[in-house]
Amino acid sequence: MIIKNTCFSLVGLWRMAFFFALPGVLLLPAKVSADGWDPDSSASASGSIVNTRHNLTISYNANFGGVMAYARNQYDDVCVYCHTPHGANSRIDAPLWNRTVNDVASYAIYDKPTTLMRPTSVPGPSSLTCLSCHDGTISIDSVLNMPGSGWDPMNSGLRNAEVGTSNISFLDQWRAAGNSGPSSPTSRHMALGGSSFTCASYCHNPESEKNAGWTDFTAFVIGEDLRNDHPIGILYPDTFGPGVEFNPPDTAIPGKWAFFDTNGNNHADTNEVRLYDSGDGYEVECASCHDPHGVESGGEGSRFNPSFLRVNNGVFGSHAGVAGIVSHGGSALCLTCHTK
Ligand code: HEC
Ligand code: HEC
Ligand code: HEC
Ligand code: HEC
Repeated sequence: MIIKNTCFSLVGLWRMAFFFALPGVLLLPAKVSADGWDPDSSASASGSIVNTRHNLTISYNANFGGVMAYARNQYDDVCVYCHTPHGANSRIDAPLWNRTVNDVASYAIYDKPTTLMRPTSVPGPSSLTCLSCHDGTISIDSVLNMPGSGWDPMNSGLRNAEVGTSNISFLDQWRAAGNSGPSSPTSRHMALGGSSFTCASYCHNPESEKNAGWTDFTAFVIGEDLRNDHPIGILYPDTFGPGVEFNPPDTAIPGKWAFFDTNGNNHADTNEVRLYDSGDGYEVECASCHDPHGVESGGEGSRFNPSFLRVNNGVFGSHAGVAGIVSHGGSALCLTCHTK
């Protein structure tokens, strides 16, 4: 048994060595434009989240698709990296959330002398969801329930953490049960960012010697220090009029959300900017501006707004890769809330 394991790990090590010795000059590194949106992505960004960069089951790089099994468990299921029908994370008020989330205390949020409103000092649930990948601290595959029967953490005797640090032994069971992954011994359960052995440091980084033309993810690592990001977890004004340079939302449902009901149907549609009330009042969160499933820019069948935004904020005209994306005008997203 021990000998067999040793052989396995030697083969695995050799394969790893082969992969990581690949020269970094096969292709020109893909570029992310200055505004962070990557027009070169091969995702068609239309129809469904399946065709977006949030489909974490696929690699758009045909030559290197298999390589991804070294980086994260391949669950072959788009939704499972974020949602589960049963046994969802009980520590966060987010839709059937299947991921480990970070402790709210680990974040520093934007607050400047000019900031008028009362920051709540912590990100709300509709930001913690995104940050569970984009702060770069949690493994991309750190789910509570892996797909298929028998993967219920109750049955396996091991559970993943709901809050804090991924339980790597739990995640390793995916490979142990014969699912896809490297042979020695498991996937690396990489996190998006951070300095060592992460998606955006090791491969998806044009400065890394390992980069063989892989897409640059460095702009996607938002980190735990959010003081250089648009405020989130911050209260929206609740009175409007002279001196308050914000538009009032059309509809407000306490304990849920307030939203700009552009089509007047009394429902917070995916292309409508919203503010979330998780107990303190209406707040700006990541999902106020973004919908991680993609938002059609011009009605049914149209390509999604860039950067998973609810409103296209000005990527059009001479910008690369905009074919089929409907413009909403420069700064349209910002001007939904700000009267500037
Ligand atoms: C007030 C609106 C707003 C909020 C709130 C917001 N974003 Fe964004 N985000 C944008 C816009 C606009 C872009 C596109 C940037 C551009 O095109 O210049 C963007 C771009 C991004 C990108 C692509 C990389 C980049 O920097 O351009 C990521 C990743 C991202 N946002 C994640 C988040 C996360 C995570 C949160 C919550 C912590 C968040 N966003 C909150 C408006 C927002
Ligand atoms: C990359 C992570 C991610 C993936 C993958 C994902 N979702 Fe979501 N989903 C979210 C987040 C985050 C929210 C909460 C958005 C908010 O705060 O309003 C959400 C909300 C939802 C909601 C409820 C609210 C809404 O926006 O409609 C449904 C239903 C949903 N997702 C279905 C799905 C299905 C079905 C799939 C697979 C086809 C899927 N999601 C894949 C992140 C994801
Ligand atoms: C399960 C992990 C995960 C979650 C949760 C997640 N993301 Fe991502 N996101 C990624 C990864 C990985 C990429 C880069 C994928 C690629 O390029 O293939 C990405 C890419 C993006 C991009 C860049 C898109 C582009 O076309 O340039 C934006 C913007 C973004 N995410 C915003 C968000 C927001 C906002 C949320 C929450 C509502 C969120 N993400 C939740 C993993 C996640
Ligand atoms: C969902 C509503 C909403 C959207 C959309 C929005 N903002 Fe904001 N923004 C806010 C709120 C609320 C604050 C906090 C205001 C305060 O407390 O002074 C804020 C703060 C700011 C600040 C900092 C103000 C200060 O005094 O430090 C700037 C700058 C800013 N937003 C620019 C933008 C830009 C640029 C966009 C478009 C990419 C944008 N906002 C989109 C609601 C929004």
